[in-house]
Amino acid sequence: MISGNKPLKGRVDISGAKNAAVAIIPATLCAGGVHTIENLPQIEDVRNYIAVLESMGAKCRLLNPSTLQVDARKANSTVHMPDNLKGMRASYYLIGALLGRYKHAVVPMPGGCNFGSRPIDQHIKGFEALGATVVQEHGSIFVSAQRLVGTKIYLDVASVGATINIMMAAVYAEGETTIENCAKEPHIVDCANFLNMCGANIKGAGTGVIRILGVKTSDMKDRDYTIIPDQIEAGTYMIAGAITSGEVVVRKVIPKHMEALSAKLQEMGCEIFAGDDWIKVRGKTELKPTTVTTLYYPGFPTDLQPQMTALLTQGNGTSYVTETVFENRFQYIDQLARLGAKVKIEGRMAAIEGAARLTGAHVEATDLRAGACLVVAALAAEGATKISNVHFIDRGYENIVDKLKALGASVRRIGDGEAPIVMEA
Ligand code: EPZ
Repeated sequence: MISGNKPLKGRVDISGAKNAAVAIIPATLCAGGVHTIENLPQIEDVRNYIAVLESMGAKCRLLNPSTLQVDARKANSTVHMPDNLKGMRASYYLIGALLGRYKHAVVPMPGGCNFGSRPIDQHIKGFEALGATVVQEHGSIFVSAQRLVGTKIYLDVASVGATINIMMAAVYAEGETTIENCAKEPHIVDCANFLNMCGANIKGAGTGVIRILGVKTSDMKDRDYTIIPDQIEAGTYMIAGAITSGEVVVRKVIPKHMEALSAKLQEMGCEIFAGDDWIKVRGKTELKPTTVTTLYYPGFPTDLQPQMTALLTQGNGTSYVTETVFENRFQYIDQLARLGAKVKIEGRMAAIEGAARLTGAHVEATDLRAGACLVVAALAAEGATKISNVHFIDRGYENIVDKLKALGASVRRIGDGEAPIVMEA
């Protein structure tokens, strides 16, 4: 429950990056030793991933709420995914990690937020190019290879998941593997850094071409790693500061990762100040309209598109958002409209009418970032907003109620946060 229309003021510490965590946790299976991972966000996806690794025979120990020690030496290569976790999207990283380390893996098909089909054809293309056979049946993916031999792989889509997955599958492949047209997200660099710390030989992560020279499993060492801060969590709080005409400082961030958003907020009239590991956003009552096109990093992140759309309802004119990464990532617009937004969708573009008067209502989160969008809009809306299905939000935001309260928001969790099951007539 959020009572909005109050400027947020204060500082918020940003947690570790969800999309780095869900790659580096399975990467410990690829490295195969005993690894301590620090700065993990305390979110559902991390808790779920730990449960999956334990079900595979890896020994997991939380040394503190955000530090995980994984002993991957005895993990097996068949994943018995507990039913409640089959919805996880990032379970696909287990395929690359296990194929790389064991040349064999059986992993349930991944789930994930439902904004358009989420194929993994590019992942499979990479695995097959390395010499694996891939069979999909009974809802699982079976991959195996006699040998994994380095080769050149060209991605038809600069897919984040495929880039990381093929990188892991190639760590021990014989010779050199080149991945071309790969994505450049910070969490790709983070995962490559972890694997290189352990003894892998990965060059070019963060650029459009990644080269992996195969190493032996005996080359790998037990190494610890601290993951990067979450650019999407940081961006969500920055946007919350802007939409409430407040003044929010996000701390423990890497300002360089936030450049696309910072530039857009400045274009809209917000004041942005940045230090080594913090950014201050001073919102303005008069916000200019703008246009946003989501692109792969370093472009404007698709995971901030819903939150940005909420902010653009407050610009003093019509704004336009084009979603180039996912085919159907405007499904949240119906719920945003219940709070007073006026948005017209044409294909991959949204036209957002400005100066919309937002008023509280009962809305439902339909996926993780759609939920974040509703939180941002509710913080600006007059009156009370009740958001159901907050489990989506808990997947990617650590302690969101406490963090918002510390910024002065009037927010509380009620009941189990689940939408009442409305029986179809
Ligand atoms: C990762 O998803 C993130 N999830 C997503 O974050 C993020 O939105 C996305 O990257 C883009 O940045 C995780 O890291 C766990 P993609 P992923 O492969 O890997 C198409 C969040 O809110 N595609 O880059 O699934 C695909 O359909 C989540 O934290 C293929 O066609 O994204 C999509 O249109 C949401 N074939 C586009 O590429 C493939 O084999 C981008 O997908 C793979 C992808």
